[in-house]
Amino acid sequence: MSPAGEPVRVQAIAQTRNSVVPPQYVQPPETRPAAKLTHHHKNEAAELSPPSINLAGEDTGRLKDEIGLACRDWGAFSVVNHGVPIELLDQMRRVGKSFFEECDMEQKLKYSCDPNSPASEGYGSRMLLADNDSVLDWRDYFDHHTLPLSRRNPAKWPHYQPNYREVVAEYSDQMKVLAQRLLGLISESLGLPSSCIEEAVGEFCQNITVGYYPPCPQPDLTLGLQSHSDMGAVTLLIQDNVEGLQVFKDGEWITVRPLHDGILVLLADQTEIITNGKYRSCQHRALTNAERARLSVATFHDPAKTRKVFPAFEPPIYHEVMYGDYVSSWYTKGPEGKRNIDALLIKY
Ligand code: OGA
Ligand code: NI
Repeated sequence: MSPAGEPVRVQAIAQTRNSVVPPQYVQPPETRPAAKLTHHHKNEAAELSPPSINLAGEDTGRLKDEIGLACRDWGAFSVVNHGVPIELLDQMRRVGKSFFEECDMEQKLKYSCDPNSPASEGYGSRMLLADNDSVLDWRDYFDHHTLPLSRRNPAKWPHYQPNYREVVAEYSDQMKVLAQRLLGLISESLGLPSSCIEEAVGEFCQNITVGYYPPCPQPDLTLGLQSHSDMGAVTLLIQDNVEGLQVFKDGEWITVRPLHDGILVLLADQTEIITNGKYRSCQHRALTNAERARLSVATFHDPAKTRKVFPAFEPPIYHEVMYGDYVSSWYTKGPEGKRNIDALLIKY
């Protein structure tokens, strides 16, 4: 961390046009984008990407089967014909991008998040508090607290674009409806009552994070976002047309093709616990590139901090956990792949 908590933003580093990234951003060889993985045969599956599922189809049996398969194989899938107006997705991308690209640093820093409290709302760069020796991500973000409504205070969101706050509020409401529908389908795909996972999660605590990845002079040495799985129940993600997001499947990193009309669904750790590991959370990361900035909007749906989460199947393979405790451990230990959820495995 910089001295006295002074804010550092990746975009400011990128704008210096230095051809070398500061050493804190250099990944060790084993986590660099091209690091050798245990798996060898370089696959013909370069074309492979998480399945795209049409939510408008008539055949709900087919829909549940497709969702079940995608959850089992990938922990991730895209949805199209999802009912959210494409214009709203575009507006969300547009206002998000304009904050990063049209405001000057002084305007942006007026919305700085609190560097001393984890997941605080606002403009920031570091995701983790436990800094020690962890390598920094080549990314800035703006985090919005959006649900429940008691957490939503649009006065904390940028006001430089006239419709910014309305767009974020509308986007939040629409993502909630879609997340509820998806958790219903995911529950049913396991033979559970439609409301099962949603009831286990309780009222959604929703955050919307706009991620901005400036061009990076050394993309081979850096990551936009280190490998992790999301902590909550389900994440809905849109991106612009610049590649960078990868999901880990069968020992390989696979780039998710950006879909203009689609929304990517990522299963997160609490869904893995509730489904008792029948569906595992998706491990993912973001790469950087030297040419173009990249934008993503991730909408997280989490349990409340006081919620106790446990498997819906017997015998449970995970211990019950209070969500707030899970989050604290994530922020102290760092994401490092999936090690946080593995710590909850019951040893029989
Ligand atoms: C995240 C995340 C991926 C991306 O914010 O948790 O995984 O493409 N984002 O920005
Ligand atoms: Ni994530």
